[in-house]
Amino acid sequence: STIGFIFDLDGVIVDTAKYHYLAWKNLANELGFEFTHEQNELFKGVSRKRCLEILLEIGGIKATKEQFDTWMIEKNVDYLQYIDKMDASEILPDVPKVLDFLKAKNIPIALGSASKNAKPILEKVNLLSYFDAIVDGNNVAKAKPDPEVFLIAADKLGVSPSRCVVFEDAVAGIQAANTANMVSIGIGDSNVLSEAKYNFNNFTEIDSSFLNKLVANLAE
Ligand code: BG6
Ligand code: MG
Repeated sequence: STIGFIFDLDGVIVDTAKYHYLAWKNLANELGFEFTHEQNELFKGVSRKRCLEILLEIGGIKATKEQFDTWMIEKNVDYLQYIDKMDASEILPDVPKVLDFLKAKNIPIALGSASKNAKPILEKVNLLSYFDAIVDGNNVAKAKPDPEVFLIAADKLGVSPSRCVVFEDAVAGIQAANTANMVSIGIGDSNVLSEAKYNFNNFTEIDSSFLNKLVANLAE
């Protein structure tokens, strides 16, 4: 294929930010401080390790290497308990509509996520089979806004970066897509995602006429 579509996972396909929040909040509370929804915004698109560093800064806690590693594991074990209960009802509105549109046109689809839990989540919500390539936190060295994750995804799809579209809910993800010379589409608040080429609050706002034009422009 000449064109490809790349999806972020957390906040684009599923609303897992609420489970990340609960798991980080549980850890913060155990360490004796609060963690707010507002602070959780800083964690979107950010690696697990960097999230813990920020959390400990918020709590004013200096950790030993052993403590740091223990808390990383503890947070993830807790997070996985929420993930374990997920099913297809947690897919964000109209995500399957867009995936089906692309499948019908034989346009390859990749995942480009910072999460190391991407595959089990896609399995849980029954979307794994849509993806021709999966690039996640296990495959990348440099975190968003570095374009690495999306460039590897394009490579795996065999599509040149400038002919790829990226759906992202995080500022760092939009920046990564732009740096990769891809068409960035922000999913969420346009004030926050102002660097995106296009912006929608969610997939219900994306109709087939927009997608057809996008695909036609890219294929030229
Ligand atoms: C991103 C999330 O997709 O993945 C971040 O937006 C999260 O909040 C990161 O920290 C890493 O996820 P995981 O599942 O490997 O801890
Ligand atoms: Mg995201």
